[in-house]
Amino acid sequence: MELAKPSLEYRKSFIEAVNEGFSFSSLRDFTEEEKQKINNDFESFFKEKYDRVFAPAKIICEDGNSYDKVPDTTYWLVDEGEFIGQFSLRHYLNDFLFMHGGNIGYVIRPSKRKMGYATKGLGLVLTEARKLGLDKVMISAKEENIGSWKAIEKNGGELDNVTAMPWDTSGPRFKRYWINLIN
Ligand SMILES: CC(C)(COP(=O)(O)OP(=O)(O)OC[C@H]1O[C@@H](n2cnc3c(N)ncnc32)[C@H](O)[C@@H]1OP(=O)(O)O)[C@@H](O)C(=O)NCCC(=O)NCCS
Repeated sequence: MELAKPSLEYRKSFIEAVNEGFSFSSLRDFTEEEKQKINNDFESFFKEKYDRVFAPAKIICEDGNSYDKVPDTTYWLVDEGEFIGQFSLRHYLNDFLFMHGGNIGYVIRPSKRKMGYATKGLGLVLTEARKLGLDKVMISAKEENIGSWKAIEKNGGELDNVTAMPWDTSGPRFKRYWINLIN
């Protein structure tokens, strides 16, 4: 198992993953239009999503405020040449990510869940975060997302707080963890 740069090499298993329900984020599924593009014109989908140069920009977040977009690195978790899931490492936190989202996000394809991949993949991404010079990372997970927060705890996550978001106080609560990267 390894972290790989997103590559057309994994086209077949990536498309299988999308067709079984994988999407980039737990917040939104691919639209039918996006799925068609992935199946029928994978090269242009890939170019749009992954051949990008980081350009500082402001983005509007869920709280309605605008924040500087932070640089990030996308990794694909690959096992025996097959796409398993995607991890994103944000190189630092803006005020929004500090509150919600944190440094690392991940999605494992549905057919490969509950096999330890999130736990092991997160461990590999922490090694990359250390190489970037980060001394700690914040990761948040919905309170009901047991698989996500267990993976964080198994990688040394220490609970900071459990809180709903200020813009949705009656909405889901999130567990915010810190993982110390300095031994
Ligand atoms: C959350 C997610 C990443 C977990 O991935 P995974 O590869 O299944 O996680 P792991 O196999 O490493 O599981 C870690 C632990 O959680 C448990 N677990 C995983 N999914 C679970 C579930 N749905 N319910 C209960 N326990 C679960 C595992 O059994 C394991 O516990 P154990 O070692 O004590 O047996 C995956 O379900 C997913 O991609 N979900 C959609 C996207 C998402 O929610 N991303 C996280 C956003 S914060």
